[in-house]
Amino acid sequence: KRVAILISGGGSNMVALVDSMSGDHPARPCLVLSNDAGAGGLEKARARGIATAVVDHRPFAGDRPAFEAELVKPILEAGADIVCLAGFMRVLTDGFVSQFQGRMLNIHPSLLPKYKGLHTHARALEAGDAEHGCSVHEVTARLDDGPILGQARVPVLPGDTPDALAARVLVQEHRLYPAVLRKFAAGDRTPIILT
Ligand code: GRF
Repeated sequence: KRVAILISGGGSNMVALVDSMSGDHPARPCLVLSNDAGAGGLEKARARGIATAVVDHRPFAGDRPAFEAELVKPILEAGADIVCLAGFMRVLTDGFVSQFQGRMLNIHPSLLPKYKGLHTHARALEAGDAEHGCSVHEVTARLDDGPILGQARVPVLPGDTPDALAARVLVQEHRLYPAVLRKFAAGDRTPIILT
């Protein structure tokens, strides 16, 4: 299976996914694509010999379909079978998502269905939750809403700041996403719960 990974920033989840796809893993990375030419993850991908592409969303301000019509091109040219959103920070319309129905994944830093959207760590702290974590789900047209393929849980500790909690969750993201992708690429969609 050929995997395209979409990023917007540092790409630590992309690195974890790329580094996991070796040996008898049924998938290999075929593209790292960003909406931001300055994304730090692009250099990490190049250092790993992976094809990269950039489609800047800003020239398409307000016209999501026009941006998505460009964004899809490198994914199709790379022959991706699976698309992984990994710290990709643009909302995708149903028009884009429907082209990859059932073969697009995303990682979200909360225990979905709690805290869809942004600022998930601050919201968990604000709510006084004792636990928090991350979820990998199939992407559908509704934001952060598709079938859950995996979750990892972390404790919320006294004195946690959003950044401290985010760092604890990120460690689990780097365990969870590769584990889910390996199963998903082998055709197994039974959810994983990491402890
Ligand atoms: C992180 O906040 C992570 O929780 C979320 O996207 C952000 C950047 O991740 N998935 P990455 O380092 O670019 O993978």
